[in-house]
Amino acid sequence: MHKPMLSRRGLLAQLGCALPIVGLTANAWAQGGPTVTPRQTEGPFYPRQKPADIDNDLTAFGTSSRPAVGDQLTVQGRVLDRSGNPIPGARVEFWHCDTHGTYHHVGSDGQIDQYFQGYGEMLTDVEGHYDFRTIKPGIYPGRACHIHFKVFAPGHRPLTSQMYFDTEMEANLRDGIYRRLSEAERKAVTLSTSSRSGRQSSIEGQLDVVVA
Ligand SMILES: [Fe+2]
Repeated sequence: MHKPMLSRRGLLAQLGCALPIVGLTANAWAQGGPTVTPRQTEGPFYPRQKPADIDNDLTAFGTSSRPAVGDQLTVQGRVLDRSGNPIPGARVEFWHCDTHGTYHHVGSDGQIDQYFQGYGEMLTDVEGHYDFRTIKPGIYPGRACHIHFKVFAPGHRPLTSQMYFDTEMEANLRDGIYRRLSEAERKAVTLSTSSRSGRQSSIEGQLDVVVA
């Protein structure tokens, strides 16, 4: 069920090279170690019951061959301790609304994309990597575009937080949950993205998560 979606090598090949990841890490640590990922509210939409399919590809629900609606998005990074050591075997949970702004598995009666999985989870690999394939979340009133996540790392307190997009800074700065973070904390929850246009546009986001 916890299938690795992209190998490390495959992922770097897709990104073009390893430099952006190395550069980000070096920048974060140049100022005295990585910023611990801030805790943020779980919100009311954590699944009441987890779906039958909980793998790390949210664009394909169950056995359906029809993909979720929306811009394809890949999110990847590592789970690290506050010294920057990767943590293997950490469970990363990931949930967000569909392209219509509707959360699944919470009894919602809004317009719903039945082909979107809504929630997924996976274990980090031996180098602490996680990766999810999904779609860019829709928008719902009062919030910037965001993804909820939890990390259960062995020997660490569970972390609940949210991630945002570096392409949505205007909306992020209007979002009350984002605004209450310090500048360093905002960086620690903002995906570094690159995008490709084509028949269907796709976005690649990168974010390391640091647990206390
Ligand atoms: Fe939310």
